[in-house]
Amino acid sequence: MILDDFSDRLDIALQKEMPDHVAIIMDGNGRWAKQRNLPRVAGHHEGMKTVRKITRFANELGIKVLTLYAFSTENWKRPRFEVDFLMKLPGEFLTTYLPELIEENVKVEMIGNFDALPTHTQQAIENARKATEHNDGLILNFAMNYGSRLELVNVVKRIGELAMTNQIELEDIDESLIESCLMTSHLPEPDLLIRTSGEIRLSNFMLWQLAYAEFTFTDVYWPDYNEQCLLEAIEDFQLRNRRFGCVDEEKKGINRKIR
Ligand code: FPP
Repeated sequence: MILDDFSDRLDIALQKEMPDHVAIIMDGNGRWAKQRNLPRVAGHHEGMKTVRKITRFANELGIKVLTLYAFSTENWKRPRFEVDFLMKLPGEFLTTYLPELIEENVKVEMIGNFDALPTHTQQAIENARKATEHNDGLILNFAMNYGSRLELVNVVKRIGELAMTNQIELEDIDESLIESCLMTSHLPEPDLLIRTSGEIRLSNFMLWQLAYAEFTFTDVYWPDYNEQCLLEAIEDFQLRNRRFGCVDEEKKGINRKIR
């Protein structure tokens, strides 16, 4: 039987295991704009609308956490105009869509170096965080000024501090201690990583957390990414046999942690 009807496919996907945490590297905004002879920032602006679309659909799917890589610690190297534009997008997004996010029970969070963001960006994020802190639907987690290596450096510093102040012994350093120092310590690990635009790399994104995630890559540029694309990624995920290093089918999920 060929199932090409979106709602039939959606119904089937909803009956199967959903990833708890989907992480997306939203790539291809610049190329999307270039194809249309538009400035790069027009691609970012269109990408913002995709964020709204995908957030709503992820919530509908019952996904618990959606982490979106919105700005990396390396993105500061882009032209000043583009960086300024990207720093204004959370403000525009969260002002325009905050009522809808509240209504849809979405909780806004952020990982990354918050203190180094411009004040207006910090205020927009803080305002949305506060306004949605009691929501218990989808967690919309922006990775903003985020870099996995910097995160890990900070973990090492924190553990060093605990050791130097005799709060821990060497033997206390284990995976769970490291995880407790990550910015994602309160979240389940990503089950599914999606990268758009045909690039096949991680670009310093959640290097520790993605250890057992399933990866999917699509050629679609982020501004063109839609519900159909996410459903395809979920269907692909649902066909994977996750063994977490085990051979025994029954041990599937053994390492899966809901913190
Ligand atoms: C990578 O595409 C994309 C980014 C660095 C920015 C992603 C940001 C958004 C999609 C908007 C975020 C919205 C909110 C609400 C924060 P690229 O510019 O590197 O594309 P290219 O590789 O085609 O040049």
